[in-house]
Amino acid sequence: MQRKSKLPEPRRLQDYAPPDWLVPAASFRFELDAVRTLVHARLEVVCNRDDIRALVLDGEELELVSLRIDGVAQPLPNVGADGLTLAIAGRHAVVETVVAIRPSANTQLMGLYASGGNLCTQCEAEGFRRISFFPDRPDVLTRYAVRLEADLRAFPVLLGNGNPGDAGLLGGGRHFAEWDDPFPKPCYLFAVVAGQLEALRDSFVTASGRVVGLAIWVAAADIDRSGHAMLSLKQAMAWDERVYGREYDLDVFNIVAVNDFNFGAMENKGLNIFNARYVLADADTATDHDFDSIAAVVAHEYFHNWSGNRVTCRDWFQLALKEGFTVYRDQQFSADLGSPAVRRIESVRSLRLHQFPEDNGPMAHPVRPESYIEISNFYTATVYNKGAELIRMMAGQLGAERYRRACDGYFAGHDGTAATVEDFLAAMAAEGLDAALFARWYSQSGTPTLTATVEHFAGDGCALLHVAQASRRHGTLQEPLPIPLSVALFAADGRRMAARDDLLLTDAENSFLFEGIDAPPILSMNRGFVAPVHVQPAPARDALAMLAAHEDDRFARYDALQQLMHSALAEGMAAGTALGHADVVAAVRSALAGWQDDPAFVAEAVLLPAESLVGDRQHKVDPPAIHAAREALRLSIRAGLADELWAVFHACRTHGGDLSARAKGLRRLKGIALGLLMAGDAADATSAAFGMFSAADCMTDRMAALSALSHSAAPERDAALRVFFERYRGFPEVLDKWFAVQAASTRGDTLETVQMLADHPLFDARNPNRLRALALGFAGNQARFHDRKGAGYAWLAAQVLAADRINPQSAARLVGPLARWRRLMPPWGGLMSDRLLAIGRSPGLSKDVREVVESSI
Ligand code: PHE
Ligand code: ZN
Repeated sequence: MQRKSKLPEPRRLQDYAPPDWLVPAASFRFELDAVRTLVHARLEVVCNRDDIRALVLDGEELELVSLRIDGVAQPLPNVGADGLTLAIAGRHAVVETVVAIRPSANTQLMGLYASGGNLCTQCEAEGFRRISFFPDRPDVLTRYAVRLEADLRAFPVLLGNGNPGDAGLLGGGRHFAEWDDPFPKPCYLFAVVAGQLEALRDSFVTASGRVVGLAIWVAAADIDRSGHAMLSLKQAMAWDERVYGREYDLDVFNIVAVNDFNFGAMENKGLNIFNARYVLADADTATDHDFDSIAAVVAHEYFHNWSGNRVTCRDWFQLALKEGFTVYRDQQFSADLGSPAVRRIESVRSLRLHQFPEDNGPMAHPVRPESYIEISNFYTATVYNKGAELIRMMAGQLGAERYRRACDGYFAGHDGTAATVEDFLAAMAAEGLDAALFARWYSQSGTPTLTATVEHFAGDGCALLHVAQASRRHGTLQEPLPIPLSVALFAADGRRMAARDDLLLTDAENSFLFEGIDAPPILSMNRGFVAPVHVQPAPARDALAMLAAHEDDRFARYDALQQLMHSALAEGMAAGTALGHADVVAAVRSALAGWQDDPAFVAEAVLLPAESLVGDRQHKVDPPAIHAAREALRLSIRAGLADELWAVFHACRTHGGDLSARAKGLRRLKGIALGLLMAGDAADATSAAFGMFSAADCMTDRMAALSALSHSAAPERDAALRVFFERYRGFPEVLDKWFAVQAASTRGDTLETVQMLADHPLFDARNPNRLRALALGFAGNQARFHDRKGAGYAWLAAQVLAADRINPQSAARLVGPLARWRRLMPPWGGLMSDRLLAIGRSPGLSKDVREVVESSI
């Protein structure tokens, strides 16, 4: 299709050039006001080339009030759409600007904006240009001094990056606070906050004895729900010292929770700003999963202090340099806090749910993209999660000690600079990694597929494993990748005959010899999921059942049962009816039997694959067939295992305030058992769910029961939803769950419910969490989003257009579900593409939305 619109030219990695001018130091004075804030900037600029070029300062929606160069007032120049171009006479100058900005009118939530009466900033990736004229690129590192001035009553707390300095009263009911950040940083890490906030305070003594004042700033009413975030922060600080030798470097570390935020949280130097949903928790309002996410996000943002802040990115193509690395670090941290096998299962599930489809869709891009139009569209599962998998593979190749030395070398060699993926690879190469080979993972997109076969030589008691790899981009074969492999060979009776976890594929085809193979071998591939790849062919069902019972690698055992379920579902769909599920039922029975030893693992193992994962294995996705097949399998499991499931349901009892791994595992298992028991809307399960809902002493149980009930036609469903609403209407992050659980219901009237919820007085499309809860909650509902008339798609498309006028980043995220139209069967694919085309024809679209729409049509 022809590109008709005037989308800006993409930026390309290959066009990178160093900045013409640097800004080694800058000071800012903010006269804060929700309606009109004045920003006084003083930049010391230095030419960074032999020949002098004009100084170009980025700026967006800034009203220029005054301009001085080297102290001399200038006539106000024309401000172009993209900023300010200034002719500077020498190689040094002091540029002073005053601009006015409008925080309360800023619905994009980029730059300085208002949230719940407070003011805060978000600058990554290109938000600083909405605060002041500045070279808004991460390779310009600046030492910042900031003075904040505001009304004392409206904004009693004034926070900035770095260490606190002077503070005091001004005339007219105003006050000021000064902040000084000794570490040069790119402007995307700049932050200020002003508002009515209370602090939960604590302190941390670093390995070298420095005392750091810690504070978590929240609304006064939320102080009691900030303890878990504080605990997580201290754990993260200690962990990074112990595992990576990374110490904190300022006198204070502040975290602020805000209700309106585009992403999860932001690692601004010394002043992290968080989506409140990743701060606030107690047993009554947060699920165990929320508690774990808070720990992971707090750690993630804290870890950025080294992987992102002290060593930052040269340009936005290098985003995975900080994000993939930091996700890997937070995954290691979470694994150390909980059960490594269960954490691995969770991250692989999320990789398969989000990254694999992205890599197989219209927005597929390498971990280091080569071009982009709007960088906000590239904060993706590929950059974050596949990026983390690449670090995991390299760490595995090096082993713990050499990996640690390589990281030390990376931090020491690039501290205070803006680095590239090559710099990271070179640090790994210094410890022996074949970095040139691993670099391919950063530049190739698509999920590689391994085809594995075993040849058994019974007479010699050995076997040859042949593995072929293929990694395709838009159908074209790319170069072979280095793929670490962990495999085992089992006999049909469950005996493990051989295992190797140190294999490395480097060629299009590799073969490996195994000895001591005295029976026909059954292959268990990609144990521990050490490489982010697809594997084919799937083992036969009896082999999968054997592996589900006998694999000693717990990830592989989990995955065998998942694959067995997938295979039963595929067979059910092909036959158009529910065939025998006896082997699945038996495998689930034997997995369930071990629930007391490891409830968290058993819970993951017996969980049916999500409908979207089933669809990802289909040539063309047929949503109703998937839903029917999955429901049939649930029914078979319920029919075959009702006694076992009820026994588990009744035996899993915990105290809601007990956050031990075991208690969390028991709750998870109980919720999953209930979900299976609810198959077919069984009356006994409905009343058990309602009982569980009413008696729940924690949000995990309450939410598990509510989500089980949400699909039901029984009156208990409405009753539970009403009770939940009344109890939590004052808790925004809990109310998001109330919206999301209804949007995910498989009931036939869900679209109408969703339409009504969009008109609910507490629905607000300006709040990204609320919009996402309803719109993405519904778009993820495979059974109801894909109705035969396309009404679900029409509803989503309308949300995209409405949201785009408010917040393009939020809107662009809603396009994703429609952009996968090529994957769906008729009539769904066509109905989706019609909607995409209609969005594309709408006037005044943001470049965020247009980039996603145009790359998919
Ligand atoms: N850098 C943040 C993180 O991953 C994510 C983020 C990106 C937040 C853009 C806000 C805006 O830790
Ligand atoms: Zn991050």
